[in-house]
Amino acid sequence: MSLQPNSGAQGEYAGLVVIQKYHNDRGQSHRNVVLIPQSAHGTNPASAVLAGLKVVVVKCDDDGNIDLSDLRLKAEQHQENLSCLMVTYPSTHGVYEENIKQITAAIHANGGQVYMDGANMNAQVGLTCPALIGADVCHLNLHKTFAIPHGGGGPGMGPIGVAEHLAPFLPSHTVVPTGGRKGVNAVAAAPWGSALILLISYGYIKMLGKTGVQRATEIAMLNANYIKARLEKHYPVLYKGKNGFCAHEMILDCRAFKAVANVDVTDIAKRLMDYGFHAPTVAFPVAGTLMVEPTESEPLEEIDRFCDAMIAIRHEIMEVINGEYSKEDNMLVNAPHTALEATADEWKHSYSRQKAVFPAPWVAGNKFWPSVKRVDNAYGDRNLVCTCPDVLSYENAEAI
Ligand SMILES: Cc1ncc(COP(=O)(O)O)c(C=O)c1O
Repeated sequence: MSLQPNSGAQGEYAGLVVIQKYHNDRGQSHRNVVLIPQSAHGTNPASAVLAGLKVVVVKCDDDGNIDLSDLRLKAEQHQENLSCLMVTYPSTHGVYEENIKQITAAIHANGGQVYMDGANMNAQVGLTCPALIGADVCHLNLHKTFAIPHGGGGPGMGPIGVAEHLAPFLPSHTVVPTGGRKGVNAVAAAPWGSALILLISYGYIKMLGKTGVQRATEIAMLNANYIKARLEKHYPVLYKGKNGFCAHEMILDCRAFKAVANVDVTDIAKRLMDYGFHAPTVAFPVAGTLMVEPTESEPLEEIDRFCDAMIAIRHEIMEVINGEYSKEDNMLVNAPHTALEATADEWKHSYSRQKAVFPAPWVAGNKFWPSVKRVDNAYGDRNLVCTCPDVLSYENAEAI
């Protein structure tokens, strides 16, 4: 293991440069092609490009699984230069790929290594392991699976684990000796990343023990399948395994509401704030959908409240479809509703203030008030505004 990478994405980069160093060491430095399935997280191709690799995309079939024949074809086509495959297991579609061992075998047969993206280890710990499916390297997002708080963008940790043949190449450090004999350059400033927060994962594993971490995985999957069972009558669930179950997460399809009610996934995410919830992942891995990944840590009451909120929102969409509220003025397109708005002297909407801000009985007892309405999502990302004061203003300040 190398504890150096500070995030899953940095773990990906670290794992890929380790693989490249391994190929170099065997006189195969020309191996520079990485196969990445369509369903992959955006960090996979980004890390691959940073590591100097050429990305070849592998198709997924209608069930969201890697298209085995396309994978085999591309592995053979690029046999000479194949570096590796990056694969997430269970997939970002929330399904255990039935063909995973054939997938990894096809890569090995063509001289490549297998990088397993461990973002979904919450559905593996104690039940299976990366080595069992034929992975050579994987990262662990400790902030996802091993209890480091995930809020506010970090800090997280993305240590990598490697099979024995890759251990000599684990990241080194110029000041504190660490990593393998032929280690790649450091991928982070500190030898063991954000070492202090590793203690949280250490404590979590120590306290739960072997059976406890397995139970956590089982509960995470039970929670996901419970939510799926409650919500699939209201929102289509995009992908399932052959027995109709999901792994530890599922994708709720919200795309059909646009045409009939002019409601999109962002409206649903914003409306969830009125119900007191931070929305689950929006638009990944499929645009226009919500991906719900409850983990083992939510109690049943909270999961039920979330399901109740989602079902209530579905009814609100129905009210728009039935014409009770217009497509232009309804609780969804105007969400979230702030305290300022709800307490203003003037209320211009066709629905009541009560409906806007206390949409469910349990909201009243524990109301979360969003402080602002919508900041235009993508516009802000695409149109950067410099907020630094200009130099002149410093001069003026000095004069004062
Ligand atoms: C499948 C997958 N891979 C990689 C990452 C990147 O991990 P991190 O956010 O720790 O950099 C994520 C993050 O959500 C993910 O879901």
